[in-house]
Amino acid sequence: MDVTKILAAKYPAKAHAARVAAYIRAKTGVTDGVLYVEGQASGLLEDCDEPVPFRQRRAFMYLSGLDDVADSYLVHDMATAHTTLFIPPVDPEEVIWSGLPLSADDALARCDVDAVLPATELNATLARLGAAAAKNTVFAIADRVAPHVSFLGFDATDFAVLGEAVDECRVVKDEYEVALIRQANMISEAAHQAVMRNVRAAKNEYELEALFLGECHKKNAKFQAYPSIVASGRSAATLHYVHNNKEMPGKDLLLLDAGCEWKLYASDITRTFPISGKFTKESRAVYDIVLKMQLDCIAMLKEGVAWDDVHLLAHKIAIDGLLALGVLKGDKEEILKARTSAAFLPHGLGHYLGMDTHDTGGHPNYADPDPLFRFLRVRRNLPANSVITVEPGIYFCDFIIRPYLKDPKHAQFIDEKVLDKYWDVGGVRIEDNILVTKDGSVNLTDCPKDPEELEKIIMGA
Ligand code: GLY
Ligand code: MN
Ligand code: MN
Repeated sequence: MDVTKILAAKYPAKAHAARVAAYIRAKTGVTDGVLYVEGQASGLLEDCDEPVPFRQRRAFMYLSGLDDVADSYLVHDMATAHTTLFIPPVDPEEVIWSGLPLSADDALARCDVDAVLPATELNATLARLGAAAAKNTVFAIADRVAPHVSFLGFDATDFAVLGEAVDECRVVKDEYEVALIRQANMISEAAHQAVMRNVRAAKNEYELEALFLGECHKKNAKFQAYPSIVASGRSAATLHYVHNNKEMPGKDLLLLDAGCEWKLYASDITRTFPISGKFTKESRAVYDIVLKMQLDCIAMLKEGVAWDDVHLLAHKIAIDGLLALGVLKGDKEEILKARTSAAFLPHGLGHYLGMDTHDTGGHPNYADPDPLFRFLRVRRNLPANSVITVEPGIYFCDFIIRPYLKDPKHAQFIDEKVLDKYWDVGGVRIEDNILVTKDGSVNLTDCPKDPEELEKIIMGA
């Protein structure tokens, strides 16, 4: 994939608008109407005059491609497929502090829209569009319409379907979005390897977090897709550990789950490797199980596969592996039926990835009575061109596992004596970002995970 060439074009906002409009037509039967979305408003922190960190609204980005400008609006006329972007007008008092805002010409050159107007023209444009047809509907997102915006010219308003349409359309990525995710991955991969090369010398997790962030920032990836998890030893058993402040020497593994974003598109990569440069017998055994889980699950991917089935495969391999280690004992089918493996793999196998790290459209069921599937963030058959993380793990978390040891239903399958040898392994997770295709998949993450290669990198070989 020639990322540079693909990203030299404009973000495909009009293609996105066409897909969203088609979804709305199919769902509502309304053939024409107006799509209205707002970008994030600027604001100050509640107790001082510093700005709230800016995070563009995803629906606005999807339909405009404008990732970094606050107080903007977008109107798309479904009948003509004409898109108008509204940007903040020049406020002379603000220029002294912030410089000139984005000009209309620059916005037109940058964004895949037909016209750019100052935001002061928004209500007049909406009134004109509302009056243009005998019966006209405006589609907007509930709670995302500023009080100063008027839909009075329209015959009908729909605040339900647009948000759903954007969320559903986002599942299937176009080439441009895949290139953005790949670009984020390339930067994060290099930062992961910088951490591997420096892990032996580091004394504390925060040194490595700083290194990761700096490596990304040096390449103009200033923002992370999520708070980095830099977890040494037993800290890795806490799934979203973000303290990143523990001393490291003498511990076995470091779990690094970190990824930058590129123009709002996320990378989400986890690598687990030995702090000393050499796996212990126990950590290598667990690593090998998790790597097999990941490789076999990736091999199963192609258009139409049920994510539930891939997740189930991960559990089956975990059970086989933990039986071979002696941590589990008994019949593998009985163990699966009892859901005992959830003690060691308490999270889902992965999630859609896009503008959000946990991207839209997965339809999780957090009320699922089956503990094996409760935290699975995607409960669908995967369409071609969706991007999903494959991130199996095995964890030795006292807080999670102890209740299983007290419950005879599970305790019969766990050998506590053998388990005692593994607490210091903490946790192993391996996470890549995968593009699902018609016949298989493409791994968008190219970062070492072979255990011997990891040892070599850490030892500086
Ligand atoms: N980094 C968060 C996750 O993997 O879901
Ligand atoms: Mn993830
Ligand atoms: Mn992750």
